[in-house]
Amino acid sequence: MAHKLDIISIRNQFPILHQEVNGKPLIYFDNAATTQKPQSVIDALIKYYSHDNANIHRAAHTLAARSTDMFEDTRKTIQAFINAKEVEECIFTKGVTESINLVAQSWGRKFLNVGDEVIISTMEHHSNIVPWQMICEEKGAILKVIPINNAGELLMDEYDKMLSTKTKMVACVWVSNALGTINPVKNIIEKAHALGAKVLLDGAQACSHLEVDVQDLDCDFLAISSHKLYGPTGVGVLYGKRELLDAMPPYQGGGEMIKEVSFDKTTYNDIPYKFEAGTPNIGDVIAFKYALDFVNEIGKENIATHENELLKHCVDGLLEINQSFTGTSTSLSDRNVMSSGVETQPITLIGTAKEKVSVQSFIINDMHHFDAGMMLDAKGIAVRTGHHCTQPLMNYLGVDGTIRASFSIYNTLEEVDVFLEAVRKLVKR
Ligand code: ALA
Repeated sequence: MAHKLDIISIRNQFPILHQEVNGKPLIYFDNAATTQKPQSVIDALIKYYSHDNANIHRAAHTLAARSTDMFEDTRKTIQAFINAKEVEECIFTKGVTESINLVAQSWGRKFLNVGDEVIISTMEHHSNIVPWQMICEEKGAILKVIPINNAGELLMDEYDKMLSTKTKMVACVWVSNALGTINPVKNIIEKAHALGAKVLLDGAQACSHLEVDVQDLDCDFLAISSHKLYGPTGVGVLYGKRELLDAMPPYQGGGEMIKEVSFDKTTYNDIPYKFEAGTPNIGDVIAFKYALDFVNEIGKENIATHENELLKHCVDGLLEINQSFTGTSTSLSDRNVMSSGVETQPITLIGTAKEKVSVQSFIINDMHHFDAGMMLDAKGIAVRTGHHCTQPLMNYLGVDGTIRASFSIYNTLEEVDVFLEAVRKLVKR
């Protein structure tokens, strides 16, 4: 059961939020780019480097044992966080991008053949497009793209038509970073599996907002980012089912990923180490555990309830600005609406799916998104502007970028009000 949170005490755990930017209190609405870090994560990094720093899995000394235990503790925590069956199914990477590249380069190189098909969607981040383009080109496989409707939802009928026994991989974003859309991933997975295809989910945006249970989803791979989950940058996780990871060749060679090396032949380590060549980002992995503890303590349901309230307040406020300027209102913001003259509304919402997380993109007519971003920054408000690493999606929408406000657990309704007032003033210009 969700309960009312004490947002002020949550905010107090984030030192960075308590500052002025350009003479105004910072309002941080760029959480889809990266979330801020609670004091517990910052303290864990300081403690690690002031007390425990040593390389892991290698030496017999006390510090090495301590670091190794703490590093492996994070692995156990992420296993529980996503409900993976086995701890070895969680591989540490640099982030979602590396997790997807690992699958494309290792699984793709071994299992894709000429004429095989890989399905992605129109709303993918570049990190779930380019790795598949690269491997498809190398292997002679074909990349197919699920189209979307004007609200920013996948056209599932088109997906059904695209699927066949030629489909070997469906690589799909769970939650769109640019639109906020929550995709029906369970359905996507069931349909892909019925034809023998594997499914990789890009979980970069989903894992901070939604409950994650990889066994219930039955996904084959899930790519996770620490820095979108209140943890440090430079850390990610690739979850993969054991039988798939066991069958995949190593992605990189080096220390840690081997059992025996000679000049004639090398034998490889077991998972997860087979995919963790070299000294990993030890301190940041250790601190990531504290970010997961922070989320677990509040609870995903409570987080979602608060964030959805912020989103609703923002969307209602943006629509109200339209209404006050034109006397009419529309909640739709799509290509057809935009090209049929409704752009006389000063604000066009981009991404109006029924199932959404707390991300709202929009454009202000006759104002470049970058200029809007600069003017909001002058008021201490941080939003992202641009194509959000989703250029094919922006091309589909017929825009070169949007203004994107993305909310997190430490944001408040009062901050949304300040933001709306600033947007109203931009529109008035
Ligand atoms: N993918 C990140 C974003 O959406 C960087 O802003």
